[in-house]
Amino acid sequence: IVGGFLMTGRMLDMFRRPDDPPSYSKLLMIPVLGLMAFYIPRATAGPRLATASGGLLTQAAVALGAGGSIGLIIAARCAITDLPQLVAAFHSLVGLAATITSIAAYMSHPAATGAAHLGAAWFGVLIGAVTFTGSIVAFAKLQGLVPSKEVSLPGKNVWNSVALGASLYFGKMFFDFACVGAVGDAVGSLAYVAALGAFLGAHATLAVGGGDTPVVITVLNSSSGWALCAEGFVLGSQLLTVVGALIGASGAILSQIMCVAMNRSIVGVLLGIKGTLKPKGSNAKPGAAVDGAMLCDAERGECIVSDSETAAKDLFDAKTVLIVPGYGLAVSKAQYAMADLIKHLRDAGKEVIVAVHPVAGRMPGQLNVLLAEAGVPYDIVKEMEEIEGSEGKFDVSLVVGANDTVNPSAVMDPDSELAGMPVIQVWRSRKVLVLKRSLAGGYADVDNPLFFNENTNMVLGDAKATVDDMYSKLKNLG
Ligand code: TAP
Repeated sequence: IVGGFLMTGRMLDMFRRPDDPPSYSKLLMIPVLGLMAFYIPRATAGPRLATASGGLLTQAAVALGAGGSIGLIIAARCAITDLPQLVAAFHSLVGLAATITSIAAYMSHPAATGAAHLGAAWFGVLIGAVTFTGSIVAFAKLQGLVPSKEVSLPGKNVWNSVALGASLYFGKMFFDFACVGAVGDAVGSLAYVAALGAFLGAHATLAVGGGDTPVVITVLNSSSGWALCAEGFVLGSQLLTVVGALIGASGAILSQIMCVAMNRSIVGVLLGIKGTLKPKGSNAKPGAAVDGAMLCDAERGECIVSDSETAAKDLFDAKTVLIVPGYGLAVSKAQYAMADLIKHLRDAGKEVIVAVHPVAGRMPGQLNVLLAEAGVPYDIVKEMEEIEGSEGKFDVSLVVGANDTVNPSAVMDPDSELAGMPVIQVWRSRKVLVLKRSLAGGYADVDNPLFFNENTNMVLGDAKATVDDMYSKLKNLG
């Protein structure tokens, strides 16, 4: 909670500019404190806390203080670019807490054998374990500790179905044992449910290939909420239930929005089914029909390598410039250099538009936050749909550390991991400048034929260094 609040505050602060009107958001603490002043005396007078020993309350206070301090330190030290991993790691803790609490709550009140209570305990253990290991795998993928590509056992859906079926079976065993007061056997059944959930979470998340990971992360966000909700039922805490339902429902809505943006079916993503995608809109057009240069050389011909001086000249000659930022911009912290370059181009009378893909970077809105942090005007930052179909009107498309989100194989190659995902069709513009360090693939680890187009110039190097260099060369040109 403490880490999450600090991180949210840091992100919101990035959208603030020196000339923004003063904000009084701290006043929101008044109703929060009022609510706590109302709630805490009643909670402590209630049956659970009023009978709790002083030692127990001290334990709780120490645990709260220690957890809050650790969260505070982690969130204060976390670089904004590492935020997605941090969120995944925090979700795993929610899953772990739900699993342990559900088992512990049953053990401490084994006589409570109502169907709703036992059902919530089983669900809390299962979904908590799925969230725990799924989030750890998502963390490892985002941190680059395991490959972003799909990894799974042969016949993965059979394994998943067996694990799900077995967790239902052990849920029934738990119910039967609990009803006859066989506490040890009931807890043993729950332990099996936890192990099966842990397998399901890790296996299902590992099996999701590169480009679909954003959907899994929002699904895990939602499942962490439902785990909390189940925990609330088990502990008889309305607060946990309501907060859990809020997180679960908002995560589910975000997953749906993400699926729509990426032209994915949520069931298809979770089952790792390829080919569930349908071409839509202008992305349905085959590559060969695209205006402008020839698309991708199947033989992987030479690509054109340019330098920052030539690239600066290309920008100098252009009247209209489309900028597409991606994860590489965030990694190299090029947002301030980019903001200077954009200001210079606009002052020189050029039309500049920044197009942000819905899954650019490693979490929704990451690039918007960074651009806002650097003071790039909101009105020139557009969502992908807003510029869809107009890429051809730009003299130059400047791709800064983006890769999968501008990969033509998403529209050309039905067998590609990215097939069907809408991309920003920069290759339609007169010239494309791609700023990255090498010809390596992006997060999905798919080759990018854009680099080999005859209207593409690769400007290889760290994005910040290259943009800085282009900016100084551009200033010399006038
Ligand atoms: P990516 O496809 O990840 O490509 C980023 C590129 O940046 C890399 O190819 C890399 O190439 C380059 N790069 C890295 N460090 C750099 C540096 N210091 N300077 C210059 N370039 C650098 O980026 P994207 O186009 O933003 O696409 C995002 C991908 O992440 C999608 O596949 C998306 O599905 C996935 N994803 C997104 C999210 C969310 S919610 N946004 C969450 C998880 C995963 P070099 O190594 O050659 O430099």
